[in-house]
Amino acid sequence: MTPLSQKKKNTPRERRSIGAMSTQHVNLFVPSFEMDQEEDVARKTTENGGIGGGVWRFKGNKAAKEAASVSMKGTLSRLFDCCSKDVKKSILPLGHGDPSVYPCFDTSVDAEEAVVESLRSGSANSYAPGVGILPARRAVANYLNREWDLPRKMKSDDIFMTVGCCQGIETLFHALAGPKANILIPTLIYPLYNSYAIHSLVEIRKYDLLPDLDWEIDLQGVEALADENTIAMVIINPHNPCGNVYTYEHLKKVAEVARKLGIMVISDEVYNRTIYGENKFVPMGIFSSIAPVITLGSISKGWLVPGWRIGWIAMNDHDNVFKTTRVVESIKEHLNISPDPSTILQFALPNILEKTKKSFFEKNNSILRQNVDFAFDALKDIPCLTCPKKPESCTYLVTKLDLSLLEDITNDFDFCIKLAREENLVLLPGEVLGLKDWVRLSIAVERSMLEDAFMRLKGFYARHIKTQLT
Ligand SMILES: Cc1ncc(COP(=O)(O)O)c(C=O)c1O
Repeated sequence: MTPLSQKKKNTPRERRSIGAMSTQHVNLFVPSFEMDQEEDVARKTTENGGIGGGVWRFKGNKAAKEAASVSMKGTLSRLFDCCSKDVKKSILPLGHGDPSVYPCFDTSVDAEEAVVESLRSGSANSYAPGVGILPARRAVANYLNREWDLPRKMKSDDIFMTVGCCQGIETLFHALAGPKANILIPTLIYPLYNSYAIHSLVEIRKYDLLPDLDWEIDLQGVEALADENTIAMVIINPHNPCGNVYTYEHLKKVAEVARKLGIMVISDEVYNRTIYGENKFVPMGIFSSIAPVITLGSISKGWLVPGWRIGWIAMNDHDNVFKTTRVVESIKEHLNISPDPSTILQFALPNILEKTKKSFFEKNNSILRQNVDFAFDALKDIPCLTCPKKPESCTYLVTKLDLSLLEDITNDFDFCIKLAREENLVLLPGEVLGLKDWVRLSIAVERSMLEDAFMRLKGFYARHIKTQLT
């Protein structure tokens, strides 16, 4: 078969650049200001003119309302609603991160070819087992053994395929939920952890991260929070949104605390290919002889394909603890009643993981490093926003908001709402992530957008600066 790369007239980058010149990416999560208006909305009614009182007997379930209210998408939608045509500036969506919509962040041609080959093979049209197809599970086990040199070698049985890392999180919360169980999570966290906890009725308790100690985990705080019903602690490494990468020594201490408390560690390593600083990534799984570890991963971030929706749960079960405690069974049972990742992607995964070249990751990380250098420097012109440490991983900059320098801004939400209204610039209020009066911005965008965003931030700061400092 002729490789896809030779058949194409334009490379993906060229195709997408051409598209980008004429119009925004179709999936870019911003309103177009030209929404399809539903004229019928005004006429909505509960009456049907039939028997039984003449009203429709069904209505939407409110169970997900509370869980969704803490989600990032809900907040971003509110902020996009504040943007307006009248500002006469394009909308800059730096509140969330999806680099894949920008031409400078294309996925690898090797990964594209793997998916095309899988599609054309005719072997990937069937349903898959709940735990995933064997070639995909084996490929993930081999990949983890190869990349991270794990002392206890992973086997295909230790891997479960999921619909992105999100389904891994959801599965674990459901599989571990018990009447009184609680799970410790960092205050600063990917908000879906909060949503899934609410939805699965698991109590969560939040431990602090220490900004002045490179966002290390406050392990004394962890011990103080735990009780006899604590079953797990979640760590995010590399950490979104702080951008730090934990050291070997710190992770070892995490494992020792977990052992002391009799709990497992759930390590979300979804960003482990997005590292551009000095600290080397250390997988939590290497400490599984101290405490049992479940690792969550996916190709969404490293391969810049969050829309492909494929990830995994990996059991680092050194002493067979997960088997004897029925955790493995419970995960399998949950996956048997959940939707599976597409078989096409599962079938393509071995080639995606094996054939993608190191240079692909290096190129992306080099763009991110340049963007973060630029953004970190540009912050100097906006004194109300400071960042304790330059990120060395992931795709964000988290900044502390100094409200004492601003005239009429009451908190991080107010800051982001006014910024969206006045500048059509959307950033994420830290409160959504658990850090009140901080603001997060994405650096995984085209460089010109980042430059424009900082110009607007500068203008905004100048308009809102407190004239008489108290
Ligand atoms: C820390 C963290 N975990 C998990 C996810 C979700 O990953 P996926 O897109 O593979 O479901 C994200 C997405 O931003 C994340 O930041």
